[in-house]
Amino acid sequence: MSKETILTGVRANEEPTLGNYLGAFVPMVQMQKKYAGEYQINMFVPDLHSFTTPIDHSALYANTLKNLKYFIAAGLDARDENTFIYRQSFIPAHSELTWILDCFTSFGEMSRMTQFKEKSAEHSSNVSVGLFNYPVLMAADILLYNARYVPVGEDQFQHLEITRDIATRMNNKFGELFTVPDSTAKQTEFIKRDKGLRIRSLTNPNKKMSKSSDDQKSKINLNDTPEQARKKIMSATTDSLGVINFDWENQPGITNLLQLLAILTDRPQEEVNAEWIGQTQYGPLKKAVAEAVASFLSNFQARLDAITDDDLLKVLERSERAMTIVANETLLRVQKAVGLRR
Ligand code: TRP
Repeated sequence: MSKETILTGVRANEEPTLGNYLGAFVPMVQMQKKYAGEYQINMFVPDLHSFTTPIDHSALYANTLKNLKYFIAAGLDARDENTFIYRQSFIPAHSELTWILDCFTSFGEMSRMTQFKEKSAEHSSNVSVGLFNYPVLMAADILLYNARYVPVGEDQFQHLEITRDIATRMNNKFGELFTVPDSTAKQTEFIKRDKGLRIRSLTNPNKKMSKSSDDQKSKINLNDTPEQARKKIMSATTDSLGVINFDWENQPGITNLLQLLAILTDRPQEEVNAEWIGQTQYGPLKKAVAEAVASFLSNFQARLDAITDDDLLKVLERSERAMTIVANETLLRVQKAVGLRR
């Protein structure tokens, strides 16, 4: 019997930060360790989604590969036989199914998508039809592989719901065409996300560390040199209270540093806190975190450098071949249902 599928897509636009690494890459690797064997895991880069808003096209191909290398350097086992790592645009069925789904999706329901409203306001002089249509391509990404579990952040819940609506609507009209992915409530239950783990901006610790921020000092990029990272930590915004506490409410900057230190040195938070709470100087804490971040980066970058394009491409080609077969099966089922094929 074939296994149920867990599927997720990770955009490769900006340089990932330490926040992405700890908040997204590491959980993905843990998920693979926990579920591979029991489930099939599809991890893909939605490269066609990358230019719904303007980008530097000359960097797209390389960035896609680089992002996949990041996952492997973070510990994802690319050779696991139940894990498939692939690029969306290398499987043409994504684009073909999108068009068919488009014709069963209403303009009205798409106009309600919050992310579209926000992003189109942000890029108001340049709103593409692709940006509007983004969720339908995402629905195709999911439905082609009969995925039941789609672990995504809250900002994607509405897109998952529209995927369920499109699938249910077409199933009602044509019979059992698609596996309807579980509701967002069930997804959250399935992948019990560690809600506590949200790395904060180094310059405004009330906000999360964001890869799209223009403020370089607010974030540690995974390609920062250890020296750059050290400096950013040393100049991180803290507070003027003058005593170390683990308190997200009143001392988010200091608390962010304590959290980073525990994670990067792989020690329980309580143990790290016991060592620092009550101290009245911030300098030594910053120094300890700076060292931890610098040594994390040099190890990570060494692992990254050891992965060659050739190795990665071999893995991708194997997955893309296998996933093309699955995707084409679904596409043919849909083509038959809508009258394009016998
Ligand atoms: N829209 C997702 C994001 O921005 C990425 C994505 C595209 C995705 N297709 C997907 C995620 C399918 C899960 C499943 O994060």
